[in-house]
Amino acid sequence: MSHFFITTPIYYVNAQPHLGHAYTTIVADCLARFHRLKGEDTLFLTGTDEHGDKIVQSAEKQGKSPQAFVDAISAQFRALWPQLGIANDRFVRTTDADHKARVRQFLQKVYDAGDIYFGEFGGHYCYGCERFYTEKELENGLCPQHLTKPEFISEKNYFFRMSKYLPWLREHILANPDFIRPERYRNEVLAMLESGALEDLCISRPKSRLTWGIELPFDTDYVCYVWFDALLNYISALGWPDGPDYPRYWPGEHLVAKDILKPHAVFWPTMLKAAGLPLYRHLNVHGYWLVRDTKMSKSLGNVVDPLAMSKEFGLDAFRYFLLREMHFGSDASFSEESIVTRINADLANDLGNLYSRVLSMTAKYCEGRTPACGTFNEDDRAIADLCLTALQNFVQLFGGTQFSQALESLWELVRACNKYVDSQAPWALFKQGDMARLNTVMHVLLTAMRKVALCLWPVMPQSAAAMLSQLGQPADGDTPPACDLEQESREFAGLAAGAPLAAASNLFPRIDVAARAKAAEAAARAEKEKNKAEKAAQKAKAAPAPAEPAAEISFEHFKAADLRVGTVRVCERHPNADRILRLEIDFGEGQPRQILSGLAEYFAPEELVGRQVCAVLNLAPRKIRGLVSHGMVLTAEQEGRLVLLQPGGPMPDGSRIG
Ligand code: ME8
Ligand code: MG
Repeated sequence: MSHFFITTPIYYVNAQPHLGHAYTTIVADCLARFHRLKGEDTLFLTGTDEHGDKIVQSAEKQGKSPQAFVDAISAQFRALWPQLGIANDRFVRTTDADHKARVRQFLQKVYDAGDIYFGEFGGHYCYGCERFYTEKELENGLCPQHLTKPEFISEKNYFFRMSKYLPWLREHILANPDFIRPERYRNEVLAMLESGALEDLCISRPKSRLTWGIELPFDTDYVCYVWFDALLNYISALGWPDGPDYPRYWPGEHLVAKDILKPHAVFWPTMLKAAGLPLYRHLNVHGYWLVRDTKMSKSLGNVVDPLAMSKEFGLDAFRYFLLREMHFGSDASFSEESIVTRINADLANDLGNLYSRVLSMTAKYCEGRTPACGTFNEDDRAIADLCLTALQNFVQLFGGTQFSQALESLWELVRACNKYVDSQAPWALFKQGDMARLNTVMHVLLTAMRKVALCLWPVMPQSAAAMLSQLGQPADGDTPPACDLEQESREFAGLAAGAPLAAASNLFPRIDVAARAKAAEAAARAEKEKNKAEKAAQKAKAAPAPAEPAAEISFEHFKAADLRVGTVRVCERHPNADRILRLEIDFGEGQPRQILSGLAEYFAPEELVGRQVCAVLNLAPRKIRGLVSHGMVLTAEQEGRLVLLQPGGPMPDGSRIG
């Protein structure tokens, strides 16, 4: 039996899972399902990468311990995958005790072999990338990824003798054209290797700077560099060196995006080589999902939530869209309109329509059962041939990560089937009473439709299972339908005559574009109104803080303001206004004054009782929601918050300010 081991990157836990992570993991799921469908012993691994400076910084920002922080976000990734129909067999975390032990074993092995040494190193360190940059790699002195100035760090560290293996790696890539695929990334790596910019790899961080990592087995003052630790997940999760899954599943297939090409194409194979382990089979590299041609980023607020998309458009339709829209290797542009277009054209018009019309015709003309097949004429043979070619191409392309082309090849068949329905006109055959011909036509269609459903099971497990069930071959989304894909693409058969069929099918309803546009417009209008109202409320509430110095006033004018120090005696919420506090303030006038102030958002009433404040007393009285304010408490705005102005120390109530 052949074995298939597929991995995704283990994701950093300093961000919530988004469309990009979902894409890679869905692709891995589709590949795993494809190989399970082919009957292979398949293992699908994903997980989270939890060490390093970035994580510590993110945890600090949230006031959490690193462990509490990584536990929470790792759990979010883990919980998301099943909701996207992803059935990973294993989930690895780099903070697992088992992973840590394997990493230390690996380090010791390479150290003992003499490929790790201690040395002094100075370099430009980018915290965003968690790596050193050489002078040459910087662009105008800035990190080319983050456009920030890296910090120059010089310290003693451990190094992996990577340079020793670079000539060998180049030879290996030249001798194995699809080791890194598609070809553009292979060329990129060859150019990297030929540029001479690659050196030995610094694999440690002194504990004085960072403790959140795996301690080196040969020096307790250091922890392991995050990439050296993370890459090893691919074998630690298999229980390397002594677990039974390691020889069973290694070497595997990796899936990554172009952002992490170098660690996977250069660090990882040289690490494996140094430890005397076999290399992975292929590094499969895809491009980036852009949102309308712009990078997704938190600060732009355009991060796409995959779960929301799958809920809005249907999980299977979303998965289909991702695989069909992106040409594996190139960047792709994400938009809701493009999902709608794909759903309406490919799923509703082509595939859904084929199922719906053929099944309603078999209900009407063939008593809802698969009819027997007669002799083929030229048209039937053409469809049968096209079907087998489409399947062969599909299997070949899908297995080689050309998902979009694989699906396109399948859709050529779907569209040809729809045309065949039109040209054969089963309704006319029925009218003419030509049942033999009618039965053959329907049999041809049902046979092709079943093969399409089988191919689609890895991509759209639930829908494909529904399709097969409608064809009288009950299936589900969890277990691959029993079939031999190779056989299916060689022989135009697979349906027994007489099997009961569904009478109707409505797999992928059309999305009403006009109604969607209208709803979007209404939502945009409501949003605009809401923003307007919020802004107005804010304006009313916030003390105006002039950005520029206010216009000049005369000294007399200023003197006219009666500014005084007073002590808050009573403070409570305004009974009819959420944002306002009602204060009774003692200004030494014999009895306290009532002043209303928009402080409720920033202070609890009890916080203010007993405090001294500054206020203007001779403002014209103002009524706010039924209560009258006799003056105004002075505040200053600081980063959107109001701060009370107070005297530097206790003063007699009623002291004049001026
Ligand atoms: O790099 N389009 O983790 P990471 C497509 N921990 N895919 C995208 C994407 C986008 N816009 N954005 C992210 C790390 N991805 C390391 C990996 S592996 C030993 C260690 C996907 O959380 C894509 O798979 O930054 C990319 O390679 C990965 O997320 C990076 O995830
Ligand atoms: Mg990243």
